[in-house]
Amino acid sequence: MSRRVIALVSMLATAAMVLAACGGAATTAPTQAPAATSAPASTSVEIFSWWVGPGEADGLAAMVKVFNAQYPSITFVNAAVSGGAGTNAKAVLATRLAAGDAPDSWQAHAGQETIANYVAANQVLPLDDLFTSTGFANVLPKTLLPLISKDGHPYSVPVNIHRSNVLWYSPAVLKAAGVTANPKTDFKTWDDFFAACDKVKAAGKTCLALGAPWTAIHLFENVMIGTIGPDKWNGLWTTPPTTDWKGADVQKGLANFAKALSYTNSDASTMSDWQPASKLVANGDAAFNVMGDWAYGYFANPAPNGLALKPHVDFDWAVSPGTYGVFNFLSDSFVLPANAKHPDATVAWLTVAASKAGQEAFNPLKGSICARTDCNQALFSEYSQDAAKDWSSNQVVGSLMHGVVAAPAWATKIGTAIGLFQASKMDAAAQADLQTALAAACASDGTCK
Ligand code: GAL
Repeated sequence: MSRRVIALVSMLATAAMVLAACGGAATTAPTQAPAATSAPASTSVEIFSWWVGPGEADGLAAMVKVFNAQYPSITFVNAAVSGGAGTNAKAVLATRLAAGDAPDSWQAHAGQETIANYVAANQVLPLDDLFTSTGFANVLPKTLLPLISKDGHPYSVPVNIHRSNVLWYSPAVLKAAGVTANPKTDFKTWDDFFAACDKVKAAGKTCLALGAPWTAIHLFENVMIGTIGPDKWNGLWTTPPTTDWKGADVQKGLANFAKALSYTNSDASTMSDWQPASKLVANGDAAFNVMGDWAYGYFANPAPNGLALKPHVDFDWAVSPGTYGVFNFLSDSFVLPANAKHPDATVAWLTVAASKAGQEAFNPLKGSICARTDCNQALFSEYSQDAAKDWSSNQVVGSLMHGVVAAPAWATKIGTAIGLFQASKMDAAAQADLQTALAAACASDGTCK
């Protein structure tokens, strides 16, 4: 693991401890989960996620197949709620948890979403025994362990590593617009990208496809990282921040964000999710889309869930502008609820989610790489093989939209401020207002003084 990754991990772990402490987390670890055992007696297991839509459901279905083969006596109940990034699912889950009706396991992002939320609220149990009995701890990157741990106890099973900072594009649209810049090497800054956008716009196409509101937050994080760089991005999330939310760097990032939004489709706010925006690129109606690599599954998987497009021909990829050598990551994981209804069945699910077979079935279809370090790379696409190399060699930073760097309450405030900004003129005055709101969000989290 590179020193830069270690620095990120220790920064995030410190933030996790501080935030968990603020959240009134228990000081002693609650009762441990049962270790993986042989198949429990006939029962069911209700698994909650947001993997419903095109490009999302295939991976889950493949992991369920492995589960069904290994635990035929347990009925898998799919409680997935549609809506990318969990926009609907998280609200439904919060209601269920408040009502004492937890599913047997749920999707939770590694990082603050798990530690400052479910762990701090004592809604989940530690998984030390499962990690030991399955040997999972030995095959998990050291990068991830602190992001799912508190006081040395792991609290969730990561199934994957996704990359947020991917720029998907249509080679045909770029060619027709006379864009000669190569996205894989030539977008060193957002200005380089905007120059290409001017050509695409002149050719009558949308330059940057944007989807449902949450995708603007996804764009925001990648514009910010591509403008201020990974170290200053990390500095926004330390306690106290070493990057000033009110400073010139963030101001420049917001100016680039406003400009990027000016190149997006005017109907973005009416889009149901991320897929319609990615589809604009697939159809040749837009040149680019900044979206996580779950879009790979959507582009490349066979019908009916995937578009069965040909890589490099019908679509291609680079990292988002200004982020060469940077891997903006997130990780989906699953938890064991406190007071689980079917603890043995949940542990069976978690055992499959942690296993090589489970992860090798899930990830090639999901567009992610394994959380485990020992998956067979031959099972993966060229895209994912490249992502795996970058994961182990790039500077790794954490995603805001997908739960790594900020506690959910803080992230929600940022999302609200971005939504208001999109509804404004997005001029210099609105950018200043957004910056003030971002600084206030940091203060309300207690991270900024
Ligand atoms: C992310 C999640 C991914 C993918 C994406 C789009 O939050 O981690 O696995 O589902 O949302 O829905």
